[in-house]
Amino acid sequence: MSISGASGGKPEYRLADRIQQVAPSATLAISAKAKKMKAEGIDVIGFGAGEPDFDTPAHIKAAAIAALNAGDTKYLARKGAALVDLIARKLKEENGLSYDRAQILVSNGAKHSIYNIIQAVCGPGDEVLIPAPYWVSYPEMVRLAGATPVFLPTDAGSGFKVSPAQLDAATGPRTRLFIFNSPSNPTGAVYEPDEVRALAAVLAKRRLLTISDEIYEHLLYDGAKFLSLAAAHPAMKDLTVTINGHSKTYAMTGWRIGYAAGPEPIISAARKLQDHSTSDPVSFAIAGAAAALEASQEERERMRAEFDVRRRYMVDRFRRMKGVQLATPRGAFYAFPDVSAHYGRKLSGMDVKDSLTFAEACLVGARVAVVPGGPFGADGFVRFSYATDMASIREGLDRFEKWLEGR
Ligand SMILES: Cc1ncc(COP(=O)(O)O)c(C=O)c1O
Repeated sequence: MSISGASGGKPEYRLADRIQQVAPSATLAISAKAKKMKAEGIDVIGFGAGEPDFDTPAHIKAAAIAALNAGDTKYLARKGAALVDLIARKLKEENGLSYDRAQILVSNGAKHSIYNIIQAVCGPGDEVLIPAPYWVSYPEMVRLAGATPVFLPTDAGSGFKVSPAQLDAATGPRTRLFIFNSPSNPTGAVYEPDEVRALAAVLAKRRLLTISDEIYEHLLYDGAKFLSLAAAHPAMKDLTVTINGHSKTYAMTGWRIGYAAGPEPIISAARKLQDHSTSDPVSFAIAGAAAALEASQEERERMRAEFDVRRRYMVDRFRRMKGVQLATPRGAFYAFPDVSAHYGRKLSGMDVKDSLTFAEACLVGARVAVVPGGPFGADGFVRFSYATDMASIREGLDRFEKWLEGR
């Protein structure tokens, strides 16, 4: 790295082109402001968190503590192979997918898994198809690999789902990868098994490699059914890298456990990258993650049922708000209402013109923190997470409604 001006004034650092392609987090400014208000003693209600408010179940914590006490503190986690076998069992029993050990890579969170896979398969000149709205990190990870994200727009009218014809038409000679996420962050959309099969038929015909991010697999409501993309067509197992992890299902966001399962050459390429960058995840977190898969899944269902109660309440409230349109979310823990009817208004003394200014005005005027939809590729929308307690949801929506009505 060349540093000019080092012998005198302030040094100037030349950053890599790669990092300059990446957008800073537009949502960070709002989170920082909400944090500052809280620190000043202002009671802000936060709908921003993308993580369960529940604590990690006790038996999972106990397993990690036991591992620590047993000296499981080395590079090679004692439970490493056991966790991979338990993941293989989970994928077989719940998803109908058979993988051997060499086809599974455990990483430091699903985010890390996706990053490693994208780095392993994409480079300059490659295009990656991403349905919009999308999880904010997908396009940035694609850019970090030097590749180009290509967005497939969806709207509330289509339930925020891409159609097989749309996917087919968008696939071209440079298309290297498709990123699929159901249930979706931020829309809560869930592709029904028939819809997954129809997309799989196009992907199989095109021989298009796909990342299927299934991290919200177990957060389904209103009878929504889940089907893994890799199991949706006989050709898809060889064309899919399935991503999953413990963060959302077991309230383990801080543990950083995620995994990728897929074709051995791709998994071993991603493993090479991981071996030279982060190595394996934390040894005792691996022990906790194994316990989560080994024990009864009652806690998982208890949390899902609680999210559902909150979701129903939110849907009902948004339905009755003026200038707010919500497509009913059927998965994950987000509501993604269209608030664009309010753009052009002056709210909290501010000119509201897009999702960012809407979220800023809402924070200042209603003391409610929401996430702007712009960075998710949907600027008419804001995201409310219902991974927060009912009392806060009630109070937060009361404030929000009053603020919109100018009361
Ligand atoms: C769609 C989606 N994928 C992956 C992740 C990453 O999860 P983690 O890295 O905590 O496993 C998130 C987290 O917000 C997400 O919303």
